[in-house]
Amino acid sequence: MTAPLMIAVDGPAASGKGTIATRLGEIYGLPVLDSGLLYRAVGVLLVRQGGRPDDAAAATAIAEGLAAEDLDDPAFRTRQAGEYASQVAVHSAVRLALRDLQQGFARRPDGAVIDGRDIGTVIAPDAPVKLYVTARPEVRAERRFRQLLAQGEAVTHVDILEDILRRDARDGGRADSPMVRAKDAVLLDTSEMTIDVATDAARRIVEAARAGRGSPL
Ligand code: C5P
Repeated sequence: MTAPLMIAVDGPAASGKGTIATRLGEIYGLPVLDSGLLYRAVGVLLVRQGGRPDDAAAATAIAEGLAAEDLDDPAFRTRQAGEYASQVAVHSAVRLALRDLQQGFARRPDGAVIDGRDIGTVIAPDAPVKLYVTARPEVRAERRFRQLLAQGEAVTHVDILEDILRRDARDGGRADSPMVRAKDAVLLDTSEMTIDVATDAARRIVEAARAGRGSPL
């Protein structure tokens, strides 16, 4: 029997990791979990009920009640939701409350794809395939800007670059589970790649890892 194919896809905002995770899920017939949505949901639901992202206890209570089925709300995909998410994500108790759900998903018998910030380091350190997807901040800001405009948000390019740099600093600098490349993750810089080229590179990384060959890049 072959081992389940668990693919960890980490990296900063708008690096392309979400689309790559979705496409790998389609290619290999695996369920995909966007773990950022969990943190986004906690942040939005907390503020909706009158709470504040710096209130660790209130955020944790919401995280404890969250289920993977609760992630469909389009409000979780807004710019503001990303900001709330990175604020609640600094609380260790919130991260702990969301861990079981993610680790249960990672242990599915047929395999899974999960994208986030700490999947290859904390949630599934034994994953047989790990990617760390990144791109230059200016490129990521341009992508996120276009995406938010298409969603109907009134944003400027400068605001989005600031968001991205602030979020990189907060996610990379927090004490618990900071955003960092796992030692055994293959680095994929998508700055100069279309999403099709990036997906193909990711697929080759998966194939090489499955064949025990390491990085093909
Ligand atoms: O990936 P996305 O932009 O949706 O993530 C939103 C925020 O959630 C990130 O900026 C980060 O603070 C947090 N996050 C996290 N760990 C994960 C996924 C997301 O801390 N595995």
